[in-house]
Amino acid sequence: MKVAVYPGSFDPLTNGHVDLIRRGTRIFDRVLVAVLINTEKAPLFTVDERIAMIEAIFRRQTKVKVKAFSGLLVNFLRAERANVVVRGLRVVSDFEYEFQMALMNRKLDPEVETIFLTPKEDLSYLSSRLVKEVHQLGGDVSGLVPSIVHRALVRKLPNGTKSA
Ligand code: PNS
Repeated sequence: MKVAVYPGSFDPLTNGHVDLIRRGTRIFDRVLVAVLINTEKAPLFTVDERIAMIEAIFRRQTKVKVKAFSGLLVNFLRAERANVVVRGLRVVSDFEYEFQMALMNRKLDPEVETIFLTPKEDLSYLSSRLVKEVHQLGGDVSGLVPSIVHRALVRKLPNGTKSA
C-alpha cells in the first residue's frame, strides 16, 4: 500500500488543502494528513480541534487518515512506514521554502521523496493565515473553507462574519 504523508499546520484547513488531499487520493492508496503539534506558534485551533474537523470533512473518504505529529517529520514517516511527503505549491514564492524543506528532509533521510501538487488555480492565493485575518476583520471567508471550519471560525472569532 502506497502511503503519502501530507504534513502541515492546518490552522485551519482551507479549501486549498481539501483540493490537495483529494488530488493525493487519486495517486496514493492512503493520504495521511499529519497535523503538526507546534509548541512555538500560538495556533487558533488546538491540534485536537483541527484533527476532529479534518476527520469530519473526510469521514466518507476511507483513503484519508489524520494524525498529530511532533518532532522531525522524517521520524514520523519512519514510524508510519511511509517514504513520500506531499506538499502543495501554490505560487512561485512557495518554492524556496518548499525546496529547502524537501532537501533538508532528503538529507535527514535519503529514502524520503517529496512530491509537489498544485491546487486548483482559483485557490492558489488561499492560505490559513489570510483566512483567519480576513475573517477576524469581518470579511466573508465562507467560500474559502469547508462549512465545518467556517462555523468553528465564527465560534472562535465572533467579530467575524456570521454568514453560514
Ligand atoms: O503548513 P506549514 O506550517 O507550512 O507546515 C510546515 C511543516 C509542518 C511541514 C514543517 O514545519 C515540518 O515538517 N515540521 C516538522 C519539523 C521538521 O521535521 N523540521 C525539519 C524539516 S525541514
